[in-house]
Amino acid sequence: MIDNKIIIVRDLKKYFGEVKAVNGISFDVYKGEVFGLLGPNGAGKTTTIKLLLGLLEPLEGQVSIFGLNPEREEVQMKKNVGYVSEEPLIFKSLTPKDLFNFIASIRRLDPKEATERVQEYLEGLGAMEHYEQLIATLSHGNKQKIQIVASILHEPDLLILDEPISGLDAKSVRVVKEILDMHIEKGGAVLFSTHIMEVAEDLCDRIAIINKGKLVGVGTIEELRKQADKFGASLEEVFLKLTEEDSSVEDIVKKLRNSYKKKIKEII
Ligand SMILES: Nc1ncnc2c1ncn2[C@@H]1O[C@H](COP(=O)(O)OP(=O)(O)OP(=O)(O)O)[C@@H](O)[C@H]1O
Ligand SMILES: [Mg+2]
Repeated sequence: MIDNKIIIVRDLKKYFGEVKAVNGISFDVYKGEVFGLLGPNGAGKTTTIKLLLGLLEPLEGQVSIFGLNPEREEVQMKKNVGYVSEEPLIFKSLTPKDLFNFIASIRRLDPKEATERVQEYLEGLGAMEHYEQLIATLSHGNKQKIQIVASILHEPDLLILDEPISGLDAKSVRVVKEILDMHIEKGGAVLFSTHIMEVAEDLCDRIAIINKGKLVGVGTIEELRKQADKFGASLEEVFLKLTEEDSSVEDIVKKLRNSYKKKIKEII
């Protein structure tokens, strides 16, 4: 690890045929911070995360996590990384109890301690009643909770979470925030993706705005405001300015309003 940098990404590219899903992205994530990848649907967030984890092979560019190459040193890297994928969840034919016992055994965790921690987290997330229910039969949000607990059970220093709270109820979001805070207090780091401004604003120390495979701004909200020349503006305004969507959104809203007015006139 160099200068407290846990993740280093340089000029990363991944194309799928004609689609430039990730098109020359660079950023760093430091120890002790929650770093958000914020961007609209199809921006390249999941592809970036899969490249970080060595689940996809980059076309060009470098990724280093704890100074390791995720493709060549995957096993070593994953010992210290917890991952929540966009699509929950693996091991559908197990119950959460089976899954956590399995994780504890392959990660060589103390079984009693691991079970106690799992139960504490599940109580907090209101999912303890599903402990012995088949994962396949759980709701989307409850599957997500199981995946979040599974990702932190081995107490990794880095959490990589792809849209971790999109399916969660308000109380569970609060608990996940608490879990992330505790993780940061212990000196860990978090990278997560979201397309929801409020989530990014609420949870992240620094945000990278990603659009059409490119980073259009990186920094604290204050720094992003400066980059967008929008002092005192909301993150949404900054986002629209940096992604150059501000005028097109205004156009869309105007068109919607006009067609709505026309319809009302027709009805009256
Ligand atoms: N396996 C694939 N084959 C072809 N195209 C892909 C593949 N995976 C992603 N893409 C394309 O790459 C682009 C980026 O997709 P990606 O899933 O990274 O976006 P995202 O920012 O995670 O979006 P969302 O908010 O909807 O999850 C999209 O145009 C998508 O259709
Ligand atoms: Mg995605």
